[in-house]
Amino acid sequence: MDKIYFTTPIYYINAEPHLGHTYTTVLADTLTRYYRSAGYEVYFLTGTDEHGDKIAQAAKEKGIEPKAYADRISAIFRSTWDACGIAYDHFIRTTDSYHQTIVRDFLQQIYDSGEIYFGEYGGYYCFGCERFYTEKELVGGKCPDHQTEPEYISEKNYFFRMSKYQQSLIDHIQSHPDFIRPERYRTEVLAFLREPLEDLCISRPKSRLQWGIPLPFDADYVTYVWFDALINYLSALELHGSEFRENFWPKANHLIAKDILKPHAIYWPTMLMAAGLPLYEHLNVHGYWVMDSGKMSKSLGNVVRPLEMKDKFGMDAFRYFLLREMSFGQDAKFSLEALVTRINADLANNLGNLVSRVLAMQQKYFDGVVQPLGPTWAPEDEELRNKFVSAEKELARHMAELQFHRALESVWGAIDHANRYVVHTSPFTLFKDADKRPRVGEVLHHLLEAIRTASRLLAPFLPDTVKELRSLLALNEADAAYRAPWGRCFAPGHKVDGPKVLFPRIEAPANE
Ligand code: MSP
Repeated sequence: MDKIYFTTPIYYINAEPHLGHTYTTVLADTLTRYYRSAGYEVYFLTGTDEHGDKIAQAAKEKGIEPKAYADRISAIFRSTWDACGIAYDHFIRTTDSYHQTIVRDFLQQIYDSGEIYFGEYGGYYCFGCERFYTEKELVGGKCPDHQTEPEYISEKNYFFRMSKYQQSLIDHIQSHPDFIRPERYRTEVLAFLREPLEDLCISRPKSRLQWGIPLPFDADYVTYVWFDALINYLSALELHGSEFRENFWPKANHLIAKDILKPHAIYWPTMLMAAGLPLYEHLNVHGYWVMDSGKMSKSLGNVVRPLEMKDKFGMDAFRYFLLREMSFGQDAKFSLEALVTRINADLANNLGNLVSRVLAMQQKYFDGVVQPLGPTWAPEDEELRNKFVSAEKELARHMAELQFHRALESVWGAIDHANRYVVHTSPFTLFKDADKRPRVGEVLHHLLEAIRTASRLLAPFLPDTVKELRSLLALNEADAAYRAPWGRCFAPGHKVDGPKVLFPRIEAPANE
């Protein structure tokens, strides 16, 4: 069986889950469901990144030990994903002991092979970023991200010979055009690699920071957070044994936003090269969600929380908006107005209406019993089926390119067509003529096929809604009939349920 491995970043626990974290996690969940239904063996990993200055400081502010603080926030991430129905296979924490062992083994191995050396380094250190900046990187003497003046620190530390791998990395990116995708981020990385690559400082003295994994070869130092965190992608697989790791690792697909491009596109592959391991298959980079009011932040009070969205609109509606609104790779704006407009137009009106009017007619005219199809189909019936057949093909093409919004557009093109087919065939008028009732039965049969096909195609995107649709159609996911070709699903006498409102219309934009 083909294998594929999806990962989200492991999130810092200095903030609680918000829109940004939810987006990447929903993407990984959608891909997992999509590839699973296509017959792949999928492994989906998410988790939390718990070491480093930021966490130590946050714990100190709360007056508790870092581990107690980490337990609390990590549990919030996990329970949030559970409540959102995220189908992850494993939730990793960098404080898990198996992960710490693997990080130490990794460090020891590359230290033994001479890839790590001890040296003195002086530089401008930003505590917010937990990294050194060169003078050139600072903007007006300040950290470009935090707008704060970094502190000049000179200390002895351990360094990874990252510079040694610069050319091999360039060669790999050039010979694997979709190693980093979309293209704009590949270009950005190659541009960065035109300048000489420096070695990477991978330790912090314990005198300054305690909260980290001790270096296996020097107990006075802890591991730099990124060197610890990136290895999570391997340790989760290794937990199932080296065969499992060897099978899944070459099919690794990381999902990240552009903020953490450099560690994933530069540190991580060079670390893997130094350890003699194959590189991941793809680094998939998306853009940023921005609010009307600018960057999402606690102080602006504009932080979007996934569970609040789920309670207000339903998880599927929120998922739909995220997947439909952002074009993978580019930034997108988040606003409640846009969310409500999409829910009303696409979910309540388009999909919801189709389902409720078809099931209502089926109930009213035939007591819910699906009527047989004649031996020949009308051209409009063929056209309806063909619309869904092409939507399925387009969807596969778009999913391979991570164009989630286009994949959904394709399915909605077919749903739209099904609504027009109702108007065009006009079963409510035909039913008035007793001779035309068999045709009404056929039209509704084709429409039920349209709903069944839509439900199959939408399963990775709207898992709860699709469960509901299957139950309305009285079909089970495991039944062969559910996957049968158009016209061969509903056996004689098959009875479907009456109508149900899947997505209530939202009357006024919810502004609070
Ligand atoms: N702990 C590191 C990642 C280590 S992975 C080995 C980290 N954590 S984070 O909590 O800051 O998460 C960053 C990620 O959260 C982004 O790459 C993205 O997946 C998601 N997002 C956070 N804010 C976002 C937006 N506003 N928009 C889209 N996604 C963003 O970095």
